[in-house]
Amino acid sequence: MKAINMLVVEHDHILKMIAVTRQLLANKATLNIDHVEKIVDFIKNFADKYHHLKEEDVLFMEMEKHGMQRESGPIAVMLHEHNLGRGYIKQVEEGIAQWKSGNHKAVNHIADNLLNYCNLLTNHIDKENRILYPMAEKILPKIVLESMSVDFETTNKTTVDNEYTDKYLKMVEQLSSLYLNN
Ligand SMILES: [Fe+2]
Ligand SMILES: [Fe+2]
Repeated sequence: MKAINMLVVEHDHILKMIAVTRQLLANKATLNIDHVEKIVDFIKNFADKYHHLKEEDVLFMEMEKHGMQRESGPIAVMLHEHNLGRGYIKQVEEGIAQWKSGNHKAVNHIADNLLNYCNLLTNHIDKENRILYPMAEKILPKIVLESMSVDFETTNKTTVDNEYTDKYLKMVEQLSSLYLNN
């Protein structure tokens, strides 16, 4: 599969988990904390480590080598949004810890930050699919576009293995069967 297509497919998995999260948040009073923890695990490891690292360590680096700036413009915005997302998830984790220590009002903090994350990532993915990835396909030489899939595999090997990826794809399917009308 072409490198950029791999990223688009990963976006689809992330968007599915966002749809699950929105359904889960529809009823805050009975929020299932186990499921929230699974979603946080997915976001930290699949969306962030597995997906965002490929963008940050491979795609954005190549775009930078081919004339784009890292400190300003679209790449700077994307990096800023990855960091904003990490901040929201840190808040969700703090909320979970409070909830577990008996403060059930922390459910609001969990829900607000998860919803902020969903809104941020939905918009972020839309910008990458519609603007940034087509821009990459335009400015990067064909050979780079092809060799990036090998670099992605190297990045994935240092972060996660296939077994691990399977775990997260199964998690998306399991939670979608509970929350979405597939
Ligand atoms: Fe991104
Ligand atoms: Fe992305």
